[in-house]
This record gives sequence, structure tokens and C-alpha cells, in this order.
Amino acid sequence: MRLLVTGGAGFIGANFVRQTLAERPDTTVTVLDALTYAGNRASLAPVADRIDFVHGDIADLDLVDELVSGVDAVVHFAAESHNDNSLADPWPFVQTNIVGTYSLLQAVRRHDVRYHHVSTDEVYGDLTPEAAAFDETTAYNPSSPYSATKASSDLLVRAWTRSFGVRSTISNCSNNYGPYQHVEKFIPRQITNLIDGVRPRLYGAGHQVRDWIHVDDHNRAVLDILDRGRIGQTYLIGADGELDNKSVVRLILEAFDRDPDDFDHVTDRAGHDQRYAIDASLLRSELGWTPRYSDFRSGLAATIEWYRDNESWWRPHKALTERAYADAGETEISTTH
Ligand code: NAD
Ligand code: TYD
Repeated sequence: MRLLVTGGAGFIGANFVRQTLAERPDTTVTVLDALTYAGNRASLAPVADRIDFVHGDIADLDLVDELVSGVDAVVHFAAESHNDNSLADPWPFVQTNIVGTYSLLQAVRRHDVRYHHVSTDEVYGDLTPEAAAFDETTAYNPSSPYSATKASSDLLVRAWTRSFGVRSTISNCSNNYGPYQHVEKFIPRQITNLIDGVRPRLYGAGHQVRDWIHVDDHNRAVLDILDRGRIGQTYLIGADGELDNKSVVRLILEAFDRDPDDFDHVTDRAGHDQRYAIDASLLRSELGWTPRYSDFRSGLAATIEWYRDNESWWRPHKALTERAYADAGETEISTTH
């Protein structure tokens, strides 16, 4: 199997490449990545001599066409992926997430190449605390420029499948955690703050709920869908990991042996989605997938250990990331609950 992996220098893509090569040594992998602020070749260092790395943009039609012509399947991870950045400057999200996906779809259409589209549960908008979890029939209702551009890209995939017969599948996964995640994201930000002796930063009151899944469980599901998924089908990926943000911060504080109240409330995110939750019954029953990381606390402990052991990987990005949050106006607030 010859795979083109877009965004393979990012968090989930790099974990996917390393995992795929470890479990399937016969696979040939080409990575296409623009190496934005979120891309890091060091994440691929352990497999550097086993992949072809192409530094380029998924919106480059000629480059994409040439790369797609030489593979059996495309797994599309590349994206602008951070909600907070999409509020500060939505344009790169429109360009990469929508135009970039268009470029890949035109190429897989022309060369009749199998295509898997990696998306997010955020396309469904948010849930009230009592609502049933998202499933494959939930209507799209995105809230942020990030989720709106991901939703747009999913709809392009559906249209290219129906109108042009592209052999595609889509997965919509919940929040990932694990090694090699950029320090702008919630969990690595708090872990690296604590390593630096800085208090965690909780947006608003911290009551928002996310459905956490380990990145390796996400990627195993992607491989299962690539192998055995039905063409034209969407699969939701989640590991029943619902937790509110305050509880996550407290678990991280506990792992650092710190007081459970040793965090700061900061300015809430504009339009902040309240709750995401995934019903992954279809993935489990049809493809037999089950998560291996069923205990969030131990997955988190392993992730914390990884950040302690790999300071050289994240340190160059930490100060700049914190500066960007400060420049965006993040300030400490008081809250009564
Ligand atoms: P990331 O931001 O860590 O990595 C994105 C990668 O894409 C980077 O290596 C970056 O350099 C590359 N990239 C960006 N623009 C590009 C372009 N125009 N051309 C080529 N490469 C480009 O993101 P991630 O967290 O690894 O997310 C990967 C995918 O998974 C995204 O599509 C995201 O929407 C989806 N997803 C993420 C999560 C999550 O919790 N992180 C959950 C569900 C789905
Ligand atoms: P994030 O990792 O940005 O993922 P997403 O926006 O895709 O869910 O944030 C996860 C949750 O954590 C989200 O509700 C926002 C919140 N959050 C904080 O409370 N503090 C932080 O410093 C960050 C980055 C996020």
C-alpha cells in the first residue's frame, strides 16, 4: 500500500505515520506538509529514513496532482486546526481547509485514488448537558471559523463522492490528546505551564465538556476505516471520554502533586462550544474497533511523562505561543463558580 499522508508533520498525522510504519512495515509513506507553525519535522525523526517528505502546500494543484498519481490512497490530515487562531485570523482556515481539500479531491477524482478525510466532531456544533451524543445522522451546525471550514470540507467530500464517484470515507473524531501535540492546545498548554511553574489557564468557569480520546486510538480507527470502511460512509470516532475542562485541569494538577485549586480562570473563548460527545456505535459494531486507552488518567500520566522527557521538542514554541495568547487579550478573570 502506497499512502500519501497530508499534514504528516502535525500532531495526529505524525503519530499516524509512525504508528502505520510500526504496524505495517510494507506500507510506503509520502508526507505532504507545508510546515506551518504547527508542523514539526522533529515529530517524524524516528521514521525520517523510511518516508518521502515533501515540503509543500495541499492547495498547490500541480504538486498534489503529481503526488496523488503515484499512490493507492490519500489520508488527509492537513488543516489549520486551532479554534482560537481561527477567531484571530480566519483566512488561512478558508484557504487550507476548504481550498486545500478541493485540490486533493480534484486529484483523487482524476486518478481514481482512494481518499480518507480526517475531520472533527466540531462540525456538529455543541450539545446541551442532557442531549444525546452526536452520531452519523446529526445535522451540521458549526460555530467557529475553524469548525465551519472543516464542515465545508466534509461537504465537498460528500459532493465529490456523489457527483464524481470519488472513493471516499470521512471520520469525525472528538478531542485528541497524546504526545507531539502543539503547546497551544489545552492539555499540552497546561502540562508545559506546570513544568515551567506557571498556573494552568482555564477559559471562563471551565464547565465546557470535551470527549477525550488518545491519538493512537483515533489513528487505529482511521486505519480500520481505510481497510474496511464502506465507500461514501461517515464514521464518528470517540472513546466515551467526556470530562469538563475544570476536571481535566484538576487531574493534571494532581499528577504534578499540586493543589486542585492551583489554576487561574482567564477570558473565555468567543462563541465557546459547551459540550461535544460522540456515539461511536457504528465504528464499534461495523468495524470492530475498540479503544485501547480506556483509562484517561493513565493516558494522561503517559502524556505528561512524554512532555517531561521531550522538552527539546516543545520548548522552542512555548514562549511564542504564550505571547500570542497574551496579545489576543487573554487576562485573568474572577468567577463565582
Ligand atoms: P495540527 O495543527 O497539529 O497539524 C496540522 C498539520 O497540517 C501541520 O503539520 C501543518 O504544517 C500542516 N498544514 C497546515 N496547512 C497546510 C497546507 N496548506 N498544506 C500542507 N500542510 C499543511 O493538527 P492536528 O491536531 O494534528 O489535526 C489533524 C487533523 O485532524 C485536522 O484535519 C483536524 O481538523 C483533525 N482533528 C483534530 C482533532 C484534535 O483534537 N486535534 C480532533 C478531531 C479531528
Ligand atoms: P482546545 O484544545 O483548543 O480544543 P477545542 O477547542 O478543539 O475543543 O481546547 C479544549 C477545551 O479547553 C476548550 O473547551 C477550550 C478550553 N481551553 C482552556 O480552558 N484553556 C486553554 O488554555 C485552552 C487552550 C483551551
